[in-house]
Amino acid sequence: MIEVKNIKKTFGDKTVIEDVSAVMKAGQCNLIIGASGSGKTVLMKCMVGLFEPDGGHVLYSGQDFTAMSNEEKTEIRKEIGMLFQGSALFDSLTVEQNIMFPLSMFTTWSHKKKLDRVNEVLARVNLVDTNKKYPAELSGGMKKRVGIARAIVLNPKYLFCDEPNSGLDPQTSLVIDRLIKEITLEYNITTVVNTHDMNSVMEIGNYILYMYKGNKEWEGNKKEIIFSKNQRLNDFIFASEFLQDAKDMRMLEEAGKISDDRNMDEMLDKDAPSLVPPDEE
Ligand SMILES: Nc1ncnc2c1ncn2[C@@H]1O[C@H](COP(=O)(O)OP(=O)(O)O)[C@@H](O)[C@H]1O
Ligand SMILES: [Mg+2]
Repeated sequence: MIEVKNIKKTFGDKTVIEDVSAVMKAGQCNLIIGASGSGKTVLMKCMVGLFEPDGGHVLYSGQDFTAMSNEEKTEIRKEIGMLFQGSALFDSLTVEQNIMFPLSMFTTWSHKKKLDRVNEVLARVNLVDTNKKYPAELSGGMKKRVGIARAIVLNPKYLFCDEPNSGLDPQTSLVIDRLIKEITLEYNITTVVNTHDMNSVMEIGNYILYMYKGNKEWEGNKKEIIFSKNQRLNDFIFASEFLQDAKDMRMLEEAGKISDDRNMDEMLDKDAPSLVPPDEE
């Protein structure tokens, strides 16, 4: 479990995180969603200690990370895996060397033991036999999987993923989302994912924190998000008219108001033009 308590962060005279509190649950995918610039990355960096917050506390399993000495922080950092936006692999290192890097930094294991562990995590992300490849030889989805393998190589208790789907097509995004979810459940990790991808929310979001201009605007689970009446959240999620209608339908259905097919047809018809690809119109 990770607790965020009244985190504040400013850059110069610009307040970027105003006052955010949240609890990221163990063994779950906790999602931070919000428009670009809403503060997701800054909040994540405050959580992992890449930024020093100007106020507030971050607690890892009850221990106050913000109040720790550098030595104590290093101990917590060993338990944190991070998948950076854009994967952040070392271009001049092979896949194997990239994944081995944290092991060389934080363990005194023999080369054989490190290599065994690298192969273990490579198998877990379905990338056996890519050891000697360089990042430039990999597809976007494969790079993310190498990033995930590197993030979990030290068996972390906490996993942070900043926009894991950026630059990926919807199908590959789904593969990455599912992999993150499976790994979270399998190893009982407290996972935090920054995203603005609504597919991810519905696929993996157990707990969802919606950020708006540096504040926590809303929190809840993926069922609650569908029925939320928060206007800013709805404007963000149901950005298209079609999705807004789908939501209205879902709410009507829930209230037992859709009694016949004609009623549903009428609602669908309202948005018909945007459902037809332009070249078929
Ligand atoms: N190192 C920095 N120095 C100054 N401003 C920053 C820095 N990092 C982020 N910001 C600002 O903080 C705000 C939130 O940024 P960010 O957390 O990256 O948003 P998100 O990840 O939600 O897209 C933005 O207005 C951004 O310009
Ligand atoms: Mg960001």
